Amino acid sequence: LISKAFHNNFIIPEFQTFCQSIDDLYWKVKSNTNGKVASYIPQLARYSADFWGVSICTIDGQRYSIGDVNIPLCLQSISKPLTYALALNEHSPDLVHEYVGHEPSGRQFNEIKLNADDKPHNPMINAGAIVLCSLLKQGSNLADRFDYTSEMFKKLAGNEHISFNNSVFLSERETADRNFALAYYLREYKCFPKGTHVMETLDFYFQLCSVEVTCQSGSVIAASLANGGICPITGERILNPYSVRNTLSLMHSCGMYDYSGQFAFDVGLPSKSGVSGGVMLVVPNVMGIFLWAPPLDIYGNSCKGIQFCEELVDNFNFHNY
Ligand code: DON
Repeated sequence: LISKAFHNNFIIPEFQTFCQSIDDLYWKVKSNTNGKVASYIPQLARYSADFWGVSICTIDGQRYSIGDVNIPLCLQSISKPLTYALALNEHSPDLVHEYVGHEPSGRQFNEIKLNADDKPHNPMINAGAIVLCSLLKQGSNLADRFDYTSEMFKKLAGNEHISFNNSVFLSERETADRNFALAYYLREYKCFPKGTHVMETLDFYFQLCSVEVTCQSGSVIAASLANGGICPITGERILNPYSVRNTLSLMHSCGMYDYSGQFAFDVGLPSKSGVSGGVMLVVPNVMGIFLWAPPLDIYGNSCKGIQFCEELVDNFNFHNY
């Protein structure tokens, strides 16, 4: 970092000027009062509708944050690309894709529906993520599997904030009739590897949804993905480059619920949203961005998060095409 600073050859050389534009965007988007805070998990309804945070971490470790960037929020569905990346890091893509497809589902994230091969459509919806949870450290007990996964999340976050929100976990498990139905349906269609304890796998899925980050630590996770699996803060390789490539590909096509096609068209960057109002946006080979504002649009995406992404690519040529 120091030598880059001396030679001024950072990935974003005019970082100060860039941050000034991010600041302007932050304040512009702050006035967007659209959307509703998710309430189907009772504990999530307690997030203030006013929380709004933006954090940036470049692949060479430059940082910028503004707003509510140190308040823990649950990953919710933002755990899904991480589960997929870890499954790919542990198993071959062929094996992982014996259990899950590559196509957008064109339906809601929690729909009880499989593709023509009787597999979940992709890893970014509930059906796919629940099945992939069964592939992480198979054969270990649930405690070890949770330890392993949360340690990997922590490494991706450069050892910054990762916590577990037990009340969100309990409250989701208490109210997750749809996910229980989905899990039994998946079992009926033999979607799980042999020997999977389905209810334990579902608990594991709820637990990963209840892992918390802050915008700051989330931006480091995004930056590790932008950086091919090497954490820019610690310099440690956490994921192999192929796991990251596959993960970003499916974030690009399936990461924003049933708005993924429009998002890919307008923003052209891999991203994943969660019902807590978080959006993890990756600018490959440049930086990771983590946005948080709880009010959601009809698709389940953060209203401020979407507006920020759209305005970002209007101001900078980050769109892939
Ligand atoms: O399964 C659920 O309902 C949540 N725990 C995850 C929801 C979420 O963020 C939706 N994502 N695709």
